[in-house]
Amino acid sequence: AVAYLDGTFLPLAEARVSVLDRGFIFGDGVYEVVPVYRRRPFRMAQHLARLARSLGAIRIRNPHDEAGWQALVERLIAAHPYDDQIVYLQVTRGVAKRDHAFPAGDLAPTVFGMSSPFTRPDAAQRDGGLATVSMPDERWLHCEIKSVSLLGNVLARQYAADRGVPEVVMFRDGFLSEGSSSNVWLVKDGVLRAPVKNNLILEGIRYGFIESLAAARGIRFEMRPIARAEVDAADELMLSSATKEILPIVSLDGRPVGAGRPGPVYASLRQGYDEAIG
Ligand code: PDD
Repeated sequence: AVAYLDGTFLPLAEARVSVLDRGFIFGDGVYEVVPVYRRRPFRMAQHLARLARSLGAIRIRNPHDEAGWQALVERLIAAHPYDDQIVYLQVTRGVAKRDHAFPAGDLAPTVFGMSSPFTRPDAAQRDGGLATVSMPDERWLHCEIKSVSLLGNVLARQYAADRGVPEVVMFRDGFLSEGSSSNVWLVKDGVLRAPVKNNLILEGIRYGFIESLAAARGIRFEMRPIARAEVDAADELMLSSATKEILPIVSLDGRPVGAGRPGPVYASLRQGYDEAIG
């Protein structure tokens, strides 16, 4: 596998950063995960726009303009034999003497990219759906930043793993937030609902995409705060992310969601998703 590190393409196994990198010491950085289908990045402009927003939010200068990022990603894709890939991009504040405050002066950010084969969700997940467990959302209050400080998300995912399921559904103060690394959607009486985009969730690139799929397919969509009771009474639940695409959630805490199998709104959105990636 080939990686990009600070201006150089090199074998991933040879890529090295300093132990004083603020990403290592403080988790002081941001990242993106971009799916690639048939060697073409999917919704790249949106991913790069979110990367720019994340960098801006933590005041790291964007090391590349859009064309620069695109060229970098294209080279990573070209260096790998797989048609479907997952490109990972990460920017940290850089290497400096350990001090919580930003170092004075213009620190060169550490810029890293890699690509891996994309194992798309299999038929069992797509047609059988996922079991999930609920838990309180104990993360910080800037979940809109795609930060590499992922301890809260890591512990949430392990909570799921310890219970033998692939993902959690998190609630903050009784309202639905998201999964450990996915957004969560609900269907009630044919209406698709998702939590409001604010500082309590990461606005997935699939947020806008699924919203547009719903519009194209005549599915009514609402964004609003979603109470726990509505989740428990949902006809369908699903989740979305770059790597999981869109998948049905068929149980929560051992109780079936709706009929306990993937529903018609999922089926319609799934079809739209597959058509869009061609
Ligand atoms: N995670 N919410 C969280 C907390 C996430 O980490 C992710 C994605 C999403 C979905 O965003 P998108 O549709 O842009 O993938 C929502 C990536 C895949 C990851 O951390 O690997």
